[in-house]
Amino acid sequence: MLTKTLIFAQSALIAALAASAAAQAPTTLKDAYKNDFPIGAAINAAQISGSDARGDAILKEQFNSISPENALKWERIHPQPGKYDFTLADQYVALGQEFHLFTVGHCLVWHNQVPGWVFRDDKGNLLGREALLARLREHIQTVVGRYKGKIQSWDVVNEALNDDGTLRPSMWLKIIGPDYIEKAFAYAHEADPAAQLTYNDYNIEFAAKQAGAIALVKKLKAGGIPIAVVGIQAHLQPDSPTAEQEDAAITAFAALGVKVAISELDINILPLPGHGPTADVTLKLAQDPALNPYAKGLPEEAQQKIADRYQALFQVFAKHRADLQRVTFWGISDGDSWLNDWPIAGRTNYPLLFDRNGKTKPAFDTVIRAAAYN
Ligand code: G3I
Repeated sequence: MLTKTLIFAQSALIAALAASAAAQAPTTLKDAYKNDFPIGAAINAAQISGSDARGDAILKEQFNSISPENALKWERIHPQPGKYDFTLADQYVALGQEFHLFTVGHCLVWHNQVPGWVFRDDKGNLLGREALLARLREHIQTVVGRYKGKIQSWDVVNEALNDDGTLRPSMWLKIIGPDYIEKAFAYAHEADPAAQLTYNDYNIEFAAKQAGAIALVKKLKAGGIPIAVVGIQAHLQPDSPTAEQEDAAITAFAALGVKVAISELDINILPLPGHGPTADVTLKLAQDPALNPYAKGLPEEAQQKIADRYQALFQVFAKHRADLQRVTFWGISDGDSWLNDWPIAGRTNYPLLFDRNGKTKPAFDTVIRAAAYN
């Protein structure tokens, strides 16, 4: 009788302890990492305008930072000479203000999603250096100035490097020369001296491109240019770059005296034949059902592989809490991701922590668990 009572008391105690542990365990991403860094999501037009109620509910519950997936890019905000359209951008910034979210601006200077007129005069001739610099300054002053104090961090220059670490031969480089980067940072700083200014790129975990990025940051700093952050986009494949390469890249950039943002995190489980990790948006491959293997669902094993991969990554991020400005996912749920349409339209991809129904995935649990790692 006594033994039975003891066993009962013991199991009641275990149940009570388990319940209290469960009650204490953080259940949201932003809570799990509240002492480490903001957890961000890139949001699309439907989420900004409020027409994706489910996405917005996840955003408000789980995240404390936002990035605009497309809403602040040049072609959207400044589609024609002298014509700005701030409709969606204003809503984006208002959302950040209302919910006290660390609000990111993306992006001021890029070779994509910039209209062709930017580089030409009204007769269609290519602009010269001074005219393009004046146009760049006017754009940056207008956009950064409008959101002064409301956008905390700007991706000033995006993807200026080739994979070999040399400067990408963009129209910016061709017309202005390599100092277009310095100029863009200087203009952004003039417009909002308190904004954290970022150089943002993908594949800077790999040696050659990383060396190019390090040289760039050193050059900017030596010239007194206020670069505060390097954004490692982290559009990852299942096995590359490795968590160890992320670890080493964060260490290498932090050693330059800048913060690091993990700025566009996702994991592409679908085949990318002939290509290593890349986020080159101009890449296009032909439709082929064999390249869309998980259209009907993701096998348990692949699901677990992504979960384990995210756990290893977040253990690295947690370790580097002092070096990180934020960790931002490039989307909220799998259905939102650009990876469903790149480099082949209409595939079914599984890159994020919330599934197509807005439910948490095993990767969500491992990310929460990794918060307790250090
Ligand atoms: O808005 C139109 C819609 O009206 C039209 O029906 C539809 C048909 O294709 O296209 C829609 O525009 C698409 C837009 O995303 C919004 O979904 C564009 O075609 C598509 O090209 C565009 O892709 C964006 C891509 O940048 C373009 O450069 C992705 O959403 C966006 O996630 C992606 O983000 C980039 C970062 O800015 C920089 N780093 C890489 C990252 C991923 O590519």
